[in-house]
Amino acid sequence: MTILQNDNDSSVSNEKIVNPNAHFRNLNSIVDKILSRRDIFKIGSVAAVGATVAGCRSDFLAKNSEYPSHQQHLEFDFKEIKSGIDKNIHIPSGYQADILISWGDALSPHQADFDTYNQTVDGQLNRFGYNNDFIGYAPLPMGSDNPNHALLCVNHEYSIEPMMFAKPEASSGRYSKQQAEISQAACGASIIEVKRCLKSKKWSVIKDSPFNRRISMLKTKMDITGPAKGHARMRTKADISGQEVIGTFQNCSGGITPWGTYLTCEENINHGFGNLDKADTQNPEIKKSKRFGLGGACSNWYEYDTRFDLSLEPNEINRFGWVVEIDPYNPQSKPRKHTALGRIKHEGCLVTIDAITSKAIAYMGDDQYFEYLYKFISRDKFIKNNRKHNMSLLENGTLYVARFNEDMSVNWLELTFGKNGLTPENGFHSQADVVIDTRYAADIVNATPLDRPEGIALDPINGDIYISLTMNEERTQTNIANPRKHNEHGQIICIKTNDNHAALVDNWDILLLGGSEENGGTGHKAGTSHDGIICCPDNLSFDHSGRLWVCTDQGKEWKKKSGRSDGLYGVVHQGEQRGQSKLFFRAPIGAEVTGLCFAPDDQTLFVCVQHPGSDGGEDYAGFERKSTFLDPVTRWPNPENSKLPPMPSIVQITRKGKIL
Ligand code: FEO
Ligand code: CA
Ligand code: CA
Ligand code: CA
Repeated sequence: MTILQNDNDSSVSNEKIVNPNAHFRNLNSIVDKILSRRDIFKIGSVAAVGATVAGCRSDFLAKNSEYPSHQQHLEFDFKEIKSGIDKNIHIPSGYQADILISWGDALSPHQADFDTYNQTVDGQLNRFGYNNDFIGYAPLPMGSDNPNHALLCVNHEYSIEPMMFAKPEASSGRYSKQQAEISQAACGASIIEVKRCLKSKKWSVIKDSPFNRRISMLKTKMDITGPAKGHARMRTKADISGQEVIGTFQNCSGGITPWGTYLTCEENINHGFGNLDKADTQNPEIKKSKRFGLGGACSNWYEYDTRFDLSLEPNEINRFGWVVEIDPYNPQSKPRKHTALGRIKHEGCLVTIDAITSKAIAYMGDDQYFEYLYKFISRDKFIKNNRKHNMSLLENGTLYVARFNEDMSVNWLELTFGKNGLTPENGFHSQADVVIDTRYAADIVNATPLDRPEGIALDPINGDIYISLTMNEERTQTNIANPRKHNEHGQIICIKTNDNHAALVDNWDILLLGGSEENGGTGHKAGTSHDGIICCPDNLSFDHSGRLWVCTDQGKEWKKKSGRSDGLYGVVHQGEQRGQSKLFFRAPIGAEVTGLCFAPDDQTLFVCVQHPGSDGGEDYAGFERKSTFLDPVTRWPNPENSKLPPMPSIVQITRKGKIL
């Protein structure tokens, strides 16, 4: 047995190493069963080798493409970096990493330099937001496949007040109204025009671009579409129509649609709503929304804006937890929250067009312990060159949820009012109820509760879908898709779609179980090195050559899980080494790696470093306390500036003269 060795954590799971127990023996037989199913898919994999990756760009990108198709290129030829944890990022030799943009950078030429000690609401509304997560690449001009010029669509997931402000400014020792509004201004999304210098290969932000735009929680009005539009449960004192909402937040991951719009997905919405103690606990909206985690840590926004006060406005939370569609090419466009796609803790939204039916298909995970995986099939067909029509595709359609079966099939179960028990006897009175209470509808149809479904990626060669299940320490009952109790390390599963995304039955298998051999991980079976072991897979994406890349997010528990910082890994998804992972990039202490995005020629990788310094400073040897603005465990990306706090940033990684 290889013992997980790390200078920072010599105690990793010693108990499990010394006492391998029956659970892991049982696990091995389950894993062998799952992995052996790969044989039935080999024909498809072999047939794909050598194919060009025409489908790897979305239909949108492929249209009018002047950029030649990429040859499939499955090897990872970078020299794996050492795992570990410190205050900086790390990349392999031969590569270069530069900061593209950081929290507070101006998005117009009229903004002064960012002064972190004198922040203003108006300033933050015109600056790059906090905690950048998803990045989408929308080429310029629209409909091209230009690898040198684009709009980047970036999520700003959430604010961390102790890391954003030197001190709380309210007399109560809480954050002031101005600070609450700055926080709301820092959440949402940024659209930024970026251009590559053809000589240096480095990208920069065009500060005077008319496309540059901030979408915020504080100000941006959005339309509500779909079955819940205007429903009584969506109405509030401020919006008696139930059709318009101010803002989006907790924007975790997202997607770029085949028609060139940007999807940003609302995840941990519970953190925005407070005063639960004073709320009517018998109120049905409060009772149902508790499943989102109300009552835990939350902002104090409710002290200044009654819409965040659960005791005064129990319906407001129903207006969050949706997929939001934004047209990045039209800075005046009004974002739309699509209720047909369900209300969950949306991690991301992967949209493709089904080749057989021409319907738009959206795959979505609900990132919470024991929640579900969903698929949406549009009512209407995608029509080439009719962008206006295509922009309505997510407004009407059918929602399905996944049930994973022991025979390695997966059923997609319909969530439509009046069907499958979604009836008044079970508390559903309309499709609006089904989409507002999506999780409860999924319970009724006996979907498979998963270990936190997060990232979803589409194999450009054969249309298979890869899904990260980050982890689930609370699991006591296993099932075929979640084979480990107290799952600390997560897994990646693969749905074999045969490029038939409208099908209601698919096959599936497990690509890998995270963690070391001692913890029941499977990477070692495929040749993963000590440094390459993945713990807690989160965002994942294919590059244009057809290779899979996976980011990790261990959260505050990094020391207990791997003892190392989060990273970005190349993962072999075909052939004998399937399931092997190799460490490419390492985040600084307290950060997670998110939002990976490849330029269309694969010569730049954009990646987000989110919440540097914030998670788990208490466990970092030599620091061992909570990070704050004034006293952070790292000041990345400005390690030498003793006044600046750490700043969430986008990193651009290049490899001169070669494709990544
Ligand atoms: Fe925002 Fe599920 O990560
Ligand atoms: Ca995530
Ligand atoms: Ca996170
Ligand atoms: Ca995560």
